[in-house]
Amino acid sequence: MTKQPFLYLAPIRGITDCLFRSLFQHHFGGFDQAVAPFINPQPRSPFDPRQLRDLQPEENTALAVVPQFLHSEPEGLLSLAHRLHDIGYTHINWNLGCPAPMVTRKRRGSGLLPYPETILSLLDQILPRLPLQLSIKTRLGLNHKDELATLLPRLNDYPLQEIIIHTRLGKQLYKGSTDPESFSHCLELSRHTLVYNGDITDINTFFALQKQFPTLQRWMIGRGVLADPFLAATIKGEEFSALQRTRMLLAFHQELYEGYSKSLAGPSHLLGRMKQIWFYLAASFPGQQKIWKKIKKAATEEHYLAAVDMAFHSASIASPTRSAEAKNTLFP
Ligand SMILES: Cc1cc2nc3c(=O)[nH]c(=O)nc-3n(C[C@H](O)[C@H](O)[C@H](O)COP(=O)(O)O)c2cc1C
Repeated sequence: MTKQPFLYLAPIRGITDCLFRSLFQHHFGGFDQAVAPFINPQPRSPFDPRQLRDLQPEENTALAVVPQFLHSEPEGLLSLAHRLHDIGYTHINWNLGCPAPMVTRKRRGSGLLPYPETILSLLDQILPRLPLQLSIKTRLGLNHKDELATLLPRLNDYPLQEIIIHTRLGKQLYKGSTDPESFSHCLELSRHTLVYNGDITDINTFFALQKQFPTLQRWMIGRGVLADPFLAATIKGEEFSALQRTRMLLAFHQELYEGYSKSLAGPSHLLGRMKQIWFYLAASFPGQQKIWKKIKKAATEEHYLAAVDMAFHSASIASPTRSAEAKNTLFP
């Protein structure tokens, strides 16, 4: 029997918080671990305490999580790392991939990729004092794919747990195509364990990538599972009937909505959060554009719930591989 792939739930800031990760895994399963959205340094503190609350181990039992940081200076990062170590974490991930201009301008995220010396200097300063394992999540470069290709051989002698590569450039943001060919090159250049990430949107895409990289064990999926929450479990070999799908989605939505009703401050935050989720989830329903428009327009909880009702009534949630309409407009 072939070994099951190891699947990471990708960090999606604004969506994959502790409640989402836990309910997702409880209802749909399929993931082995998650990486949490990044913790960024604050003007007067290395972290926002609310972000640490999201990482409390007792709240994260359904799906083990790796905390992630965006820092580019050692002292703040080490202080955060010690806090995380104190509450029981053994592994932390460095975000060298965020493409947001306000992040890259400060030479953080993928903004550091053109500066390999800065990256190596930071590693030299932190690794001897870091109380936990370090991994990196990155892209092929900020502007050119030779940026990561230059860095990877120089990372070979550092004790890194693994390197997760989203096969786009920072300057592409989330647009344009991914570049699996360049990932092959990364496999040649790196002695570290690599994880593939980017646009795994359906089972056929996953199988094609698995065929292209037959020795690769570790994969990360983000927007693909937000659009089709059954994807990770399907990759692991599970099958779901249309009726099961509808029921599971309904139960997931209900618990998520109730959870956020309690934890978020007021209806506008609640609707804002649910709309971020439906931006992707609408793709699981026939007539996704119409559903997304209705949900986006909802200004009250009553209107929101009516739109959700419409979505579930219109669904017999389509087949495991989504409709042609959903595929063409997966990320509206
Ligand atoms: C709205 C949004 C927020 C994201 N937040 C993070 C983040 O906090 N940390 C991170 O490393 N990547 C973040 N990402 C990138 C994803 O983790 C992932 O690398 C990217 O979406 C490509 O994978 P996918 O095609 O499977 O979604 C974010 C992506 C999106 C669209």
